[in-house]
Parts: sequence; structure tokens; C-alpha cells
Amino acid sequence: MSNLIKSPAIAAGLILGGILPAHAGAPLAIRVSGPGKPISPDLFGIFYEDINYAADGGLYAELIQNRSFEYDATHNPAWNGFTSWTIEQRGDGKGLWMLEVTEPIHANNPHYAILRVSQPGDGVGLSNEGFDGIPIKAGEKYDVSFFARQLYMNEGYGEAISIEGKPMPMTARLEGKDGKALGEVELQVKGWTWNPSHASITATGSDDSARFVLLAKAKGGIAIDHISLFPTKTFNNRRNGLRADLAQVIADLHPKFIRFPGGCVAHGMGIHNIYRWKDTIGPVEQRRGQKNFWNYYQSVGLGYFEYFQFCEDIGARPLPILAAGVSCPHSDQKRGKGQQCIPLAEMPAYIQDIMDLIEWANGPATSTWGAKRAQAGHPGPFGLKYLGIGNEDRISPEFEERFRMILNALHEKHPEITVIGTAGSQPDGEDFDHGWKFAREIDTPIVDEHYYRPPQWFFDNLNRYDHYDRKGPKVYAGEYAAQETNRVNTLRTALAEAAYMTALERNGDVVLLSSYAPLLAKQGHTQWRPDMIYFDNTRILLSANYHVQKLFGQNSGDLYLTTTVTAENANLPASCVKDTKTGDVILKMVNASDAAVTAKLDLAGIDRLQPDATVTVMSGVPDARNAFESPAAIVPLRKSIAVSSNFEYEIPAHSFSLIRIKTTGH
Ligand code: AHR
Repeated sequence: MSNLIKSPAIAAGLILGGILPAHAGAPLAIRVSGPGKPISPDLFGIFYEDINYAADGGLYAELIQNRSFEYDATHNPAWNGFTSWTIEQRGDGKGLWMLEVTEPIHANNPHYAILRVSQPGDGVGLSNEGFDGIPIKAGEKYDVSFFARQLYMNEGYGEAISIEGKPMPMTARLEGKDGKALGEVELQVKGWTWNPSHASITATGSDDSARFVLLAKAKGGIAIDHISLFPTKTFNNRRNGLRADLAQVIADLHPKFIRFPGGCVAHGMGIHNIYRWKDTIGPVEQRRGQKNFWNYYQSVGLGYFEYFQFCEDIGARPLPILAAGVSCPHSDQKRGKGQQCIPLAEMPAYIQDIMDLIEWANGPATSTWGAKRAQAGHPGPFGLKYLGIGNEDRISPEFEERFRMILNALHEKHPEITVIGTAGSQPDGEDFDHGWKFAREIDTPIVDEHYYRPPQWFFDNLNRYDHYDRKGPKVYAGEYAAQETNRVNTLRTALAEAAYMTALERNGDVVLLSSYAPLLAKQGHTQWRPDMIYFDNTRILLSANYHVQKLFGQNSGDLYLTTTVTAENANLPASCVKDTKTGDVILKMVNASDAAVTAKLDLAGIDRLQPDATVTVMSGVPDARNAFESPAAIVPLRKSIAVSSNFEYEIPAHSFSLIRIKTTGH
């Protein structure tokens, strides 16, 4: 019993949340009975934020870093517009490059490069090192694109550099660490105005850390911008799409919704850093990138269109979070500023942006904003239902005033949208209490609660929602994770979350949505731990916490069957749900103690139970963790099992077990 995690409620022998104290010596029993209560079909979703390089260099499949020359020292003190680029002068080639801002492709993308070639040699141009190198695979196709224009005589500082009428021949090339070509293609830049160029390269070799090289092959000059390289194979073969392997492991979670773009990214570091959805749609080279809340640059190439499209591709509901007219309470703290507010005079325009988002997502293709969605290739509506307003805001009078204005406008113009409000950053305390009081006063339909807490907190709070008022606002457990003091993803944290998720299922009538956070973290670029999925350019590491989320996501239900656990000295959270579409019944059990427990399962209350079932088990020592060197230390193992209305099942120590049973009834 050394490692036993005991809820004080259970230790006190109280009947709480379906866990009953057993008589001394009585075996553990789990009884499932009907008819069951409907629970939210959207209970398990995901929280996506561009934190830890989740977007550029991560899920967004773009391979070129600083493709539009927009990096600067305000994004990161070590950066400038030249970051990640190097001048290449091959053979006896001679030339130079610089950055310019006059007559850019678009005002949102002000910087571009000028390349002057005074002596072509074997080519003069630029190379890009990507995000920690560019991963290239033999046989795969890569799409190259950029915008360029030839320079007029004398443009570009100095010499006459372009020969009128003659296009500039270019070579785009993938190059291994050793300088060997992994494929190349010839292109031409022609014309005095910005024009797009496209080509593709099929890689002849592989290199995890290649670079991209673009060489001008004649004397003259060009202006060039938005230099892009994508693998042709993106998730679902989308243009401007997502890294296929990463998107796939996300899809495998079977999330019912995706929350985006955060987190703190949504309300930003000060009002000028609030994430503005309109800046993130339309032609990619015309989007307005900005400093990421987490201190790097976000190109917003992965913007609202791509988020909505990804949701649709994987059958998840979009759940955008917009700022409530205030910025993050941590804004500009060095100058003692904290949460900042959009001036009241600007709130009508801000609220109009919110209305426009709904039109963009759901309006007909003939509407102003629906037409922009259609132009991007999606004439039909996206079916936006949930909209989050605010994230971890301080529940100040200024916040309340702005939130109320937004909520009223949404109620009036879009009663079909379910609004999610916020209750601060903690699961209790001042903002939490004020947030809930305010939500009740103004009838906010759903309140977003956040908790990053030690594993024990999750066991201590298994009954948190049992007593929530079913008539008041509902709950979105929008960000949570069990955190060890050293921030490592252990089996212990995963079991704490699994235990808690059984309680979420039991309370799925009041908790409508939930999501673990954060989702993604790139090795070497993390600002926050623990996360659910780690990755580098070629590998993906799935944490034990990921496996728990996946098991719940793939085995969710819409009916909760009363699950009564009679336990003695054992903390054994369990839940049972039915998926009425398939008729399957899914029993989940967590044994957080260090001894195996034999449970008597009484499933007589399940109608038309079939004997064939599968059991999936994840177990190990509490400190066990998946790492890049040992990625399968903790993985779920599945096997067939015969079940009946009464049978015994041994629940291993430190484990999560899931039994999926067929029934003949839907
Ligand atoms: O998930 C990481 C951060 O945690 C989120 O951006 C923020 O909402 C919370 O504080």
C-alpha cells in the first residue's frame, strides 16, 4: 500500500461519486446498471495552441524557416530578417543580398529580399536551414514556390543589374548536409511585378537535416519573397497543409472538438498581440504574422481556414477561442501593466469581427465573409457551434463589461452559437469564484475551467463535479494536466488523468467538454511541460498521457451507465459508458495502488451483453515514462476476453484497463 493514492473522501468511508466503502474483507466489486443517463457526445476533445513550436516547424508542414523575411528582434532577441538564410556564391559567383520594404507583395508582409548577381559563376542565391534542418525523404515530392520580380535597371542599390526582356534563370535545389544535391528543378523569374513561381522536386536521396537552395544563374537582379517548400504529401493532401504523421496521431485521438488557437496565444501579450482571426485567412503571403505569446514568430500560415479544415477532415467540431476584449493578465508585467483592455470605443468593431467570424464559418457563400471562405475552397458552411470568449482572464469589472457586451451581441444575433466563458486560470480562488458568479448572473452557457495540478489533486477531486448545479452553466474542463514536480510525463500522471476522466464521464451531463493541455511540443523548443505529444523533424513520441486520451477518445459514449464500485482500501475509479451508435458498452477502471486487485464485475444491468469483448491495459511502475530512447515503455496492450454478466477480472497494479463489450442492442 506504500504508493496507494487515497482520496480523503474514500478514506473517510463516504459514499461519493459511485464509490462505496466495502465491508472489511469484502472483495472489490464493480456493478454496472442501466438505464443510464445521456452524457455529452462531445466530452473529449483536444486543446491546440501554438506553444513549443507547435505550428511553424511543427504541425504546419512548411519546411522553410522565416520564409517571408519577417523575423525580427522583437520576436526573439537573436533574430532578424536574415535569420535562417545564408548567401550562396557558388563557383566564382559573386553577388549580394539585402532586405527591402518598398512595394512589397502585401502590406501585411512588408519585407522581402533583393538578390544582385554581378557574376553568376555556378549560381548566386540563398539557402535556408529550415527548422533545425529540413527532413528530406528519397522518392518523396516537394513543392517549391515563391514570389519574385525582376529588378529594373539601378533598382536594388547601385549597378544596372537586369537585362530587359531576359528572364532570370533559377535553380531550386534540395541539398544534403554534405552538399550533394537531393534533387533540383529549373525555373525562371520573368516580369517587373510580383509573380508566383511553382515547381516540384522529387528527392533522389534522404537527409534528416538538409537545406533548401535557390540560385540565380545569370547576371541581374531579382526581388524575392515568401519562399516556400512543402512536402506534397500533407495530411489529407491539403495544400498549405499539415505534417501528415503529426496530424495523423492527432486524428487518432478521435477528438470530438479542437480548441484553437490557445490558450494565452488567443488573448495575447497586450491588446496589440491579441490573436486576430482575420489576419490568418486568405492568401498565405498576405496574412499578417506576429509575435507569438511564447516568444517566437507565428507566420499564421496555419490559420483559421486550416484549423477549420483540419477539424472537418478529422470529424471534430471547431472550438475557436477569441479574446474577451482583454489581453492576458500576464501582459507586460515588467512594466506592471497586466491585463489590458480594448478601449470601449473600439469594442463595437471588435464585436463586429466576432460576428464576421460566424458569418465566415457558417454563412452562405454569397455573404461577405462566407464568400471569403468559398474563395479559399470551402463553399459550404463549416458548422461552427461552440465559441469560446476569453481565456484565463482576470474577472475584473473591465472584463465583465466587455464580456457582457460580446455575450449580448451573440445572444441577439447568433442564438445558435453556444458561448463558453472563462473562470480564470485556477480551479479555485478569486477569479474562479468571481468567474462562476458572473457566469451564473449572466447565464453564460458553459464555463471554461483550468487545472494544472499534481497527480494527487486529480484523485482528491474525483467528486468535484458530482455536486455541480445541473441547472446552472455547464463546464468545459478546457486545460488540464497532472504535473509532477519535475514536469515529466509519467505513468502516474497518466493514471491520475485516466481516473479523473472516469469522473468526467460520470459527470458528462454537466461537463460537456474537456481537453488535456498542451498538445504538442517540439524537442529543444519547449516553453511548457508536460505535453501530450513530443516530436522533432522526423520522430514522434507519444506520452502515456496521449495513450490515455486516445483510449478515452476512441472509446467514448453518449450514455453513462451507473457504475458502483465497492472498494476496500483501494482507490479504484471506474466508469461505464455506452456508445448508442454501435451499441458497445465500455468499462474503464484505474487501479492506482501498488497491488493487483481482483474485481467481481457485475454487468447484469447491461442489456443483451455479448460474450466477446476486448480488454486494453496500460500498466507499469508509476515513474515509467516514454522517451525518444524508449518510446514504448508505456503502451496499451489489447487482447480478447470472454465476458459474462458476472465475472472476475484482475486489475493490475498501477494500471488503466478498458473493456469494450458488444451488445446486440443499439
Ligand atoms: O497550456 C499552456 C498555457 O496554460 C495556456 O496558454 C494558458 O491558457 C495556460 O496558462
